Amino acid sequence: MSGPAPGDPVLSTSGVTMIFGGLTALSDVNFRVERGSITALIGPNGAGKTTFFNCLTGIYRPSRGIMTFSPEPGRSIQLRKLAPDRITRLGVARTFQNIRLFNNLTVLENVLVGCHSRMKAGLLGALLRDRGTRDEERAMAEFSYRLLERYGLAASANHVAKNLPYGAQRRLEIVRALATRPALLLLDEPAAGLNIAETRELDELIRFVREREGLSILLIEHDMSLVMSVSDSVYVLDYGVLIASGPPAEIRRDPKVVKAYLGED
Ligand SMILES: Nc1ncnc2c1ncn2[C@@H]1O[C@H](COP(=O)(O)OP(=O)(O)OP(=O)(O)O)[C@@H](O)[C@H]1O
Ligand SMILES: [Mg+2]
Repeated sequence: MSGPAPGDPVLSTSGVTMIFGGLTALSDVNFRVERGSITALIGPNGAGKTTFFNCLTGIYRPSRGIMTFSPEPGRSIQLRKLAPDRITRLGVARTFQNIRLFNNLTVLENVLVGCHSRMKAGLLGALLRDRGTRDEERAMAEFSYRLLERYGLAASANHVAKNLPYGAQRRLEIVRALATRPALLLLDEPAAGLNIAETRELDELIRFVREREGLSILLIEHDMSLVMSVSDSVYVLDYGVLIASGPPAEIRRDPKVVKAYLGED
């Protein structure tokens, strides 16, 4: 997994438009995430970044446009009409701008919830607790615990999630997303609220996740040093319109991008 293979997108969108009443939150968005890449989506507050994630994950259905997800080469799935849980099972996982953990569950239980979206035994199996279901549950608990070990949270496995330090809560949210075994991981402002040391750890974590899990990452982020450091390519949204895309070094000196950000103040 050393960088993206050219011309093999894990995600591509064409003409994605999202209209809320009189507000066009996304206008004709054509977007690509190359397989194995870390791609960033940046833009001023209210630009439409989270709305784009909500369209991809089935929370909103775009007014127009095509969203094609390719969990592996040669396989394409149209996301537009699918429900959120189906999109998760197909291999798109996300975290949220404001952390959404099950605060009163333990760290391990939070990861198990992520696993559950992939479980074969349905509700009936869970109620009957037959042999197959018990075996599957044991395998899920082992898988979850191994994930916690891999991401430095095993010592807190039985702690209640709300008692974790903030940085560890952000990390746990990423681990829970990984428990769904995604091909594409969407991170909505993972550095929000982190201090400088925690942001540096996040930088390493994002690279490690890409290598270790062999997945692609789409990152919404306001922390420009993080974006410039981890991204293979960057897209810039302003008032729902993509105004630039390219390698980070080009984006940082693009006059349109500079203007969009300076215009904010
Ligand atoms: N459900 C909704 N109904 C109406 N308007 C909405 C809805 N969701 C988002 N919007 C509007 O769409 C625009 C884009 O919002 P969005 O949350 O996607 O921005 P963002 O780029 O994620 O901003 P931030 O960096 O502040 O998180 C905003 O004007 C917002 O008010
Ligand atoms: Mg947002």
